[in-house]
This record gives sequence, structure tokens and C-alpha cells, in this order.
Amino acid sequence: MNFPTPYYQYDLNLLRETLNAIKKASDYEGFQVHYAIKANANPRILQPILKAGLGIDAVSGGEIAVALEQGFKPEKIVFAGVGKTDAEIQMALEQEIGCMNVESEAELRVIIEWAHRLGKRARVALRVNPNIDAHTHKYITTGLNENKFGISLGMLPRVIDLCRETPEVELEGLHFHIGSQITETEPFEMLCDTVNRLQDEYEERGITFKSINVGGGLGIDYADPQANPIPDFQSYFDTFKQRLKLRPGQQVHFELGRSVVAQCGSLITRVLYVKEGENKKFVIVDAGFNDLIRPALYQAHHKIINLSSQAQETEVYDVVGPICESSDVFGEEERLPLTQRGDLLALLSAGAYGEVMASRYNCRELAPSYFEE
Ligand code: LLP
Repeated sequence: MNFPTPYYQYDLNLLRETLNAIKKASDYEGFQVHYAIKANANPRILQPILKAGLGIDAVSGGEIAVALEQGFKPEKIVFAGVGKTDAEIQMALEQEIGCMNVESEAELRVIIEWAHRLGKRARVALRVNPNIDAHTHKYITTGLNENKFGISLGMLPRVIDLCRETPEVELEGLHFHIGSQITETEPFEMLCDTVNRLQDEYEERGITFKSINVGGGLGIDYADPQANPIPDFQSYFDTFKQRLKLRPGQQVHFELGRSVVAQCGSLITRVLYVKEGENKKFVIVDAGFNDLIRPALYQAHHKIINLSSQAQETEVYDVVGPICESSDVFGEEERLPLTQRGDLLALLSAGAYGEVMASRYNCRELAPSYFEE
């Protein structure tokens, strides 16, 4: 392909295969998968996800609007977020979306006010902060006491009581999300244990929940995406199947983002210059952190391949963008085939939190997207 660079390129076949794998692996009674639309809200990406029957996990009124526009049913949308505005709460109630995941008592009180004013019943789940370490980057860990997310275990009984004594509120269940890019099973097992403990505790008080939402977070293989293009969904869902003690008829909701879309997208960029430094060689490309911010923001690494060079000989380069900031680096000491001006490079695994997090910093244009069917 010879499009102007940089651009996002998506492999919709891989996306469909990934969705099939999710469907197959989650085919257990009561399991329902929502796609965390924050990972990628491109309409062409959303269509196969809609067709596969997934619901949506949204974190803003804007995301709810995009999901509705793309044809997702309101009842299959859940709405999370620590800072829902009044307008967003009003919209969620008016559109009668499936459930709002409530993050504090203060927020619940505002939801009750709005439900009362609009004459609606608010379906809510309470987001619990289970204080579990997800062993991932600190910016994407969300389930520790020090994080801003969720209702602490200590406050939970009070908020549950408030739900139960308020006619405008229908308490659907409990919601958890402990972090993102989780590559070990243990944090998910600990989450199951916490859920089991809480369910036992509340059952003794005569309280049961219709649904348990365990959030998202399943990680992907950034180091070797070509070898592992589809995450191990079977082990992931089996962990919950085996370890969660569900009550009869109870539903389990999942909110997967990255694992659904990361591997189907690449950022394609052209080499502008190969620059000899004092002790280093730099490959300067035409994509910058405004196109893909994950390396600059989370010290993330996306595998880089040279799509143009057939050279047997390799060289070690720092691959950097054009933005006037030292953090605009995609890779340090990358071993690549001999690279020259004009070569096309691909930054792999960029389908999640790539295009959606792009900005127009330095008055740069937003990178367009292209799709392989
Ligand atoms: N549910 C909730 C409540 C969330 O906050 C998130 C992600 C998800 C589900 C989806 O998580 P996933 O399955 O994608 O791990 N921009 C960062 C990731 C931020 C994740 C925020 N929350 C990155 O590029 O690594």
C-alpha cells in the first residue's frame, strides 16, 4: 500500500478471528462480554464487535453516543467512570442503558436525584475497590486502595443500604476492575476469591446480586505479537468459570478492551532520516507520540518491523519521532535490518489505545485509518 504516512492499518480478519475465539471461550451459562470502547472507537472496528454480539462498556456520554449510533442496544451498554457529569447521568437514564457502575456514595446521591426528577428507575452496580495488586504499570493499576477508583470495602455496606432503601434504585450487582495489561492469572484468581468472600458475607445478610462484573484487563503479547496474535481467552474465562462461586441464575459480565483489538492494528510510518549520532544511530520516523502515546506515557514497547528492507545485515538504532520532546521515542537499541530513508516501518499491537489516544499536538494532522478485509 502506498498511502501517505503515518496511518493506522487494521486487519479485520484477525479482529473477526479474535471475536470468534472470545465467543467460543466464553460460552458458559451467564457469561456476558462487553467491549471496553475506550480501547478503540473506530466505527469500522465497532461493526464486527456489534455483529459478534458483544455489549459495550462506556466511560463517557460521548462513548455512549458512539455506541448507540453504531447500533448497540441501550440495554447492552454499561456506563462506568469516577466523574460522571450531570448531563451524562441524565443521558444514561433517558436512554435507559443497561447499568451505571457507581463509584462513590456522592455519585449515587446525584443519580438518585436525577432518577427522581426524570421519573426513572436507575439500574446500578457498585464498583468495589478490592485492594488487589494487578502487577502491571502503575498508571494502569486501578484496584488498589491508593487509586481513585471504586468504593472501598469499608464503605460498601453503607452504599448497599442506601441502594436498598431507595425506590429509584435497582441494585443490579457489584463491579470490579483491577487494572489493565494483566498477564498473570493470579490477580484474577484473587479477584474471584474477593468476590466469593463478599457474596458469602452479603448472603448472610439476605442480600444477593443479579450480576457480578469482573471488569477487563486481560493482557496481550507485545513482545511477540506475530507468534501470539490471539490472547489465551480460554484460560482467562476458565479461571472465572472454575473459581467464581456463582449463585443460580447469576450473570458474570466482562469488559475486555485491549485483548479484543490490540493485535489487529499497526501504526505504519515512514523513515525520514537515518541520523548518525555520537554513539548511536537514530531512525527518525514521521509518526510521533501524538499518533501513539503509549511508549511515552507508560514506557510501553511496541514491536517494530521494517516492511521495506530485505537486507540480511542488521544494525542497532534508536527509533524516534519528529516531536520536539525527548520522550518521543518508540524504541531504544532496536535491532533492525539495515534501514534507510523512505523505508516503511510498522509499530505492531497498536489497535488498542492507539488511534483513540492520538492528539493534534504540534498542530499535526490525525493519522487516518485503513482496513484490510
Ligand atoms: N473496564 C474498566 C472499568 C476500565 O477502566 C478499563 C480500562 C477496561 C474495562 C478495559 O481494560 P482492558 O481490557 O483494555 O485492559 N491507555 C492504557 C490502558 C488504560 C485502561 C483504562 N481502563 C494503555 O494504553 O495501556
